[in-house]
Amino acid sequence: MRKLVKNNVSWIGYLDWELETFHGDDYSIKNGSSQNAYLIEEEKTVLIDTVWTPHRFDFVENLKKEIDLKKIDFIVANHGECDHSGSLETILAEIPDTPVYCTANCVKSLEGQYGKRGWNFKVVKTGDSVDIGNGKKLVFVEMRMLHWPDSMSTYMTGDNILFSNDAFGQHYAVEELFNDKAEQSVLKHEAMKYFANILNPFAPILTKKLEEVVGFNLPFDIIAPSHGAIWRDDPLQIVNLYAEWAKAYQEDQVTVAYDTMWEGTAKVAHEIAAEIHRQSPDTVVKVFNVAKADKNEVMTEVFKSKAIAVGSPTVSNSILSSVAGWMEFLKQLKFKNKKAAAFGCYGWSGESVKLLQEMLGKAGFSVVPESIRPMWKATDVDLAAIPALVTSLLAQGGQS
Ligand code: FEO
Repeated sequence: MRKLVKNNVSWIGYLDWELETFHGDDYSIKNGSSQNAYLIEEEKTVLIDTVWTPHRFDFVENLKKEIDLKKIDFIVANHGECDHSGSLETILAEIPDTPVYCTANCVKSLEGQYGKRGWNFKVVKTGDSVDIGNGKKLVFVEMRMLHWPDSMSTYMTGDNILFSNDAFGQHYAVEELFNDKAEQSVLKHEAMKYFANILNPFAPILTKKLEEVVGFNLPFDIIAPSHGAIWRDDPLQIVNLYAEWAKAYQEDQVTVAYDTMWEGTAKVAHEIAAEIHRQSPDTVVKVFNVAKADKNEVMTEVFKSKAIAVGSPTVSNSILSSVAGWMEFLKQLKFKNKKAAAFGCYGWSGESVKLLQEMLGKAGFSVVPESIRPMWKATDVDLAAIPALVTSLLAQGGQS
């Protein structure tokens, strides 16, 4: 069912209330999601993006109920990832000569995924435009590495709508479609989670791209991303949040992340958390067992933090595999301007703390020299070292 976005622009996507994970199982979905496609019916009829492959037949059937597919003058493929391109094959089987506007990298991506099918690609780059009649046109803006090499946004003049694709999106199902209808705390959290877990590695590119887009001095009445709520109420709020988040964002928060075998390392984790609160009562402290907590939610908390403490006992001369996997994900996200400390119990060899310190350094954190490394259960001597570690962790400056 189509839903009106503005004038002759409709949402024609797939609202997925039951989705539990995304990118395989690498991204948790807590509040549903959507794949947003849009139908423009000016003098030209244009389809902006499609929906994920499993929903392709429903999508095309729904589209047929709204319009004769032969009326589609062209399709814009802002991004080749299959959550947006996954219905192209089904549509183009019915209207094979229909032009598909996309970047050169998107042609590679689509042909790589779906094969060389002889689709009628029209390759565009930043600043290229196409008239759609009624005095309106679509202007293309490459969004390379935000978050794939092929990513692109499309701006519709006249109605001043930016079809931003993944940028500014959220995995959040909003039946009423718009940001002003969404639950505001959930909307902000899901937008931040998306940024922290998917876009943060590309934050430096994003900062430059935002400056470029804002520099066009275009009016933005609506920002219509490819996932989640459409920003119509103060749409620039999400642009401003992105500008803030892209610059090594942090709040007055410290996150403690650990796993434990026999509760020894867990005890140290909670003692560190208590000491942070003792030394800095206004600082938000959050503690997670990474083997049990949702890693995307924990990374969102790390994104907000000015410092983290990571703990693992030593096992087989190394760290627990749960923490090792979590550390690999932490490194991928390329957080900046955050401090870190390591802790962990051992019984006889005791490599975990040094390994964690090395991993945290490679992940871009400024690692404090203090650590807590109890042999067996933490003694009073071990615990007495926690205040100095916390003082160092909370101290300003010296961050990478
Ligand atoms: Fe929503 Fe990068 O696909």
